[in-house]
Amino acid sequence: MKIDPIYIFRKTWATYQKVISHNLMFHREMLTAVKKLLESHPGPLNVLDLGCGDATHIGKMLNPGQVAEYCGCDLSPYALDVARKNLEPFGARVNLLCRDMVAVLREAPANHFDVVYSGYALHHLSLEEKQTFFTESRRTLRQNGQVILVDVMREEEQPRPAYLDSYNGAVAARWEALTTHERDQVQEHIRNCDFPETPTDLRMLAGKAGLTICRRLEKQTWHEAWCYSA
Ligand SMILES: C[S@@+](CC[C@H](N)C(=O)[O-])C[C@H]1O[C@@H](n2cnc3c(N)ncnc32)[C@H](O)[C@@H]1O
Repeated sequence: MKIDPIYIFRKTWATYQKVISHNLMFHREMLTAVKKLLESHPGPLNVLDLGCGDATHIGKMLNPGQVAEYCGCDLSPYALDVARKNLEPFGARVNLLCRDMVAVLREAPANHFDVVYSGYALHHLSLEEKQTFFTESRRTLRQNGQVILVDVMREEEQPRPAYLDSYNGAVAARWEALTTHERDQVQEHIRNCDFPETPTDLRMLAGKAGLTICRRLEKQTWHEAWCYSA
């Protein structure tokens, strides 16, 4: 049976909201680092957010006056309902799509966005789709535009099974804010659906797409924020 990579997000958004509110994936630190980068780009910016979820953090990374256009996409209608509320301060400049992020990216106009952002979603894609993410992002970016990626990443040289054991070990030991059932669900999701790359592998994919300048903005255990540009 094919496993639905976003089953947990489709079924219930509440578990992930708990993960965010207890900062179990370091959203706070990522927010601070990305906000600092974006402060040097007063805009107005065209922003594409791939796998936007409920947009809690992007809504805090950007000031409403900094945004000309925000397009977010996600496969979870529950998350998008919350995103609609979180993005109210951005008014009519918001466009939310319940669609696959690779399809949305492929159809994005060339030379249009200043920022392609993705938070904790890219690791759900195959290696080939991750390459498409960088290639198509490069195509849709304007001059001086950048990809900002927040995601889980394997340590260099760490194979996926070792990553899964370590991450799920941390969930068992430190995610006590979740119920046992919620922790089981999360661990199953990670085992079946998480395919994180190493920072070096991601840099190679970005480089192949012509995004040769890259910089790490933040790292907290396996949670990292990077920016890539041409
Ligand atoms: C861990 S959540 C991250 C949400 C938010 N970006 C954040 O940083 O908190 C991953 C999100 O990616 C979405 N997602 C996973 N694969 C996707 C795909 N192929 N297309 C669109 N959304 C996807 C899930 O529905 C989920 O909302």
